[in-house]
Amino acid sequence: MTNKIVVFSGAGMSAESGIKTFRDSNGLWEDYNIHDIATPEAWGKNSDLVNEFYNQRRKQIIQSQPNSAHYAIVELEKYADVQIITQNIDDLHERAGSSNVLHLHGNIRYAKSSGPNQEKNYYRINGDELTIKDVCPEGFRLRPHVVWFGEHVPMMETAACYVNESTHFIVIGSSLQVYPAANLVLCCSEKTKKWIIDPKAEEISNPSGFTRISEKAGDGVSAVIKEIITSLS
Ligand code: APR
Repeated sequence: MTNKIVVFSGAGMSAESGIKTFRDSNGLWEDYNIHDIATPEAWGKNSDLVNEFYNQRRKQIIQSQPNSAHYAIVELEKYADVQIITQNIDDLHERAGSSNVLHLHGNIRYAKSSGPNQEKNYYRINGDELTIKDVCPEGFRLRPHVVWFGEHVPMMETAACYVNESTHFIVIGSSLQVYPAANLVLCCSEKTKKWIIDPKAEEISNPSGFTRISEKAGDGVSAVIKEIITSLS
């Protein structure tokens, strides 16, 4: 049987690249109100403020580099099929070299139309800024390609299928507080080998049957990957 490894990453995956998480102390949501910048209503009320928030995030992400955990995961591709499902809007998995990355909550390097029924068209952003002058071919203003609170998560079903078919499932750096994404931990089969790597792994409620590794991504991923490679070789 082909081994299918699914990695489900959250903000903690990129913490060692210098990108803030959301819900830790000093996390992004301490400085910003979700309702002001991460909902469709916020965009309707003050699109410039929302756009500026994501322009800042994009600039920081472009200046950041993948960390050792991103690179370690790429190594796994020598031994098995590997699918990343990330809640992160950064592109650090891709820049490390991962081949298959599904962005559940969007990708900051892309924009999409704020007009109706254009969910499937994504536009690569040249440079680091999206401006008021950037519009889709139909003339609607472009918005960041991110899934905001209250919006449908279009890739959720596809992600659930990957998890369901996985032989190995590794959750890295997510508080598992945001739904529907957090439901993915319930989608594995009983036979799947499961790990959760997070300094707060013991505090995170929900997943049963997971081996909990209370470490930062860098150290935790390296240990789990060694274990998997040994078992597959
Ligand atoms: N290595 C691994 N995990 C870490 C590290 C690290 N170096 N530093 C912090 N963490 C862990 C924290 O302990 C926490 O459990 O990362 C987790 C980050 O949790 P959140 O900030 O809630 O991020 P996440 O779960 O990815 O958030 C989900 O919420 O706001 C939305 O859309 C946004 O995709 C995001 C979603």
